[in-house]
Amino acid sequence: MAQEDVFKKIVSHCKEYGFVFPSSDIYDGLGAVYDYGQNGVELKNNIKQYWWQAMVLLHDNIVGIDAAIFMHPTVWKASGHVDAFNDPLIDNRDSKKRYRADVLIEDQIGKYEEKIEKEIAKARKRFGEAFDEAQFRATNGRVLEHQAKRDALHERYAKAMNDMNLEELKQIILDEEIVFKTEVGSTADGASTIYLRPETAQGIFVNYLNVQKTGRMRLPFGIAQIGKAFRNEIVARQFIFRMREFEQMEMQFFVKPGTELDWFKKWKQTRLNWHLALGFGNENYRFHDHEKLAHYANAASDIEFHMPFGFKEVEGIHSRTNFDLSQHAKYSGKKIEYFDPESNESYTPYVIETSIGVDRMFLSVMCHSFEEEKLENGETRTVLHLPAALAPTKLAILPLVKKDGLPEKAREIMDSLKFHFKCAYDEKDSIGKRYRRQDAVGTPYCITIDHDTLNDNCVTLRDRDTMKQERVSIDSLRALIEDKVSITSLLKKN
Ligand code: GAP
Repeated sequence: MAQEDVFKKIVSHCKEYGFVFPSSDIYDGLGAVYDYGQNGVELKNNIKQYWWQAMVLLHDNIVGIDAAIFMHPTVWKASGHVDAFNDPLIDNRDSKKRYRADVLIEDQIGKYEEKIEKEIAKARKRFGEAFDEAQFRATNGRVLEHQAKRDALHERYAKAMNDMNLEELKQIILDEEIVFKTEVGSTADGASTIYLRPETAQGIFVNYLNVQKTGRMRLPFGIAQIGKAFRNEIVARQFIFRMREFEQMEMQFFVKPGTELDWFKKWKQTRLNWHLALGFGNENYRFHDHEKLAHYANAASDIEFHMPFGFKEVEGIHSRTNFDLSQHAKYSGKKIEYFDPESNESYTPYVIETSIGVDRMFLSVMCHSFEEEKLENGETRTVLHLPAALAPTKLAILPLVKKDGLPEKAREIMDSLKFHFKCAYDEKDSIGKRYRRQDAVGTPYCITIDHDTLNDNCVTLRDRDTMKQERVSIDSLRALIEDKVSITSLLKKN
């Protein structure tokens, strides 16, 4: 099957089984915005937990924070986002409107039209009966100027849309000085302009001093954060790969100047190991080292994953020098430095950043796990081979029939295991159908409670991937399953 078709199947599987829904689905969705359903949120939470623990539990010199999405507007001047127009903002809280680049450019074309119409209206008033609109359009200097600008913009815009050239669309918005922002308060002056953050990193930089001082942190140390970020992504494509509202897991690691490239190398490897521990195969990952660097970076590399639509960036590791902290020092007027007790000097720390999108990670997990497996009996089963530690449900508890005390026994088992991992109870339909339902949402284990259970206190344990079944005692269930489905099992492989 073509990879494109596989991807389409994954997208519809996500919807059908409660992983990802288009946002505002009953209103036909909102471009590049998605909601996570009952299974999606569990998988997403498990991914976040795996990342958080790998950062904050496994490293005694990394601590976490949770900064607000809204920040002082000067933050974005200092970071360079406002002037460089890296990623524009899309929500207007007054009008409740979300902007799209194509809409913005079309509005701009409309503005040139309006200017032309205004000139014509003025002239018509002035010349009265004698006014010749066609001649005026063909000869008036200001009208010609507006028309030329409109036509040039239109041509450039049409070409960019045809080529799906995102960079060029962005450049058009820049060149035309189209500004879009969120206004809060009663006035629209600079001080009340609140931006939706395009990256979570700035929340970490502005808290560097707070955390360093209150946590008595010594270099090198890191600050980790998981949170929402917003970008005006123009083209809604590839499902949750490119979203307008998404989540990032970022860690800024503060180091002594001069040591940053060693740390950059270390973090590249540490982060790759985190991915590899999921067992998706070394061949599905590669580094993409950047040759063209952002002005503030002295090294950058992406971890790419083999998606059905090619190798794509899932995570970025960046050596950001002391750019951000220095900029914030300059714009805030505060001294943002570290006193190094070993060398007896003060300096602005350098920063290594690891930045991964939760949603992209989610997508890579889904893509790798989805399989339409041909069985020996000729049937096909749809199964998600999710890493057990990430699976939304770890164990499905299935009484063979809805009578004879089997549901009660099943509930009793559920009540003892539910404290340790996420369990599901299902008594509807044939056991075969119930197994399939669990396969489709990636539940690694099912147990069946049958009539013998009431006598021998044993159940049938079924493994999702091998479909092998074995008889095990109820008392051994927790030990058998807990270790395999815990995040700890993944962390130990890091
Ligand atoms: N603070 C650095 C930073 O934001 P980035 O390369 O722009 O760097 C980091 O983004 C990660 O965030 C990407 O590797 C990707 O996983 C995720 N990401 C970026 N834009 C995204 C979008 N529009 N939708 C979903 N994930 C996105």
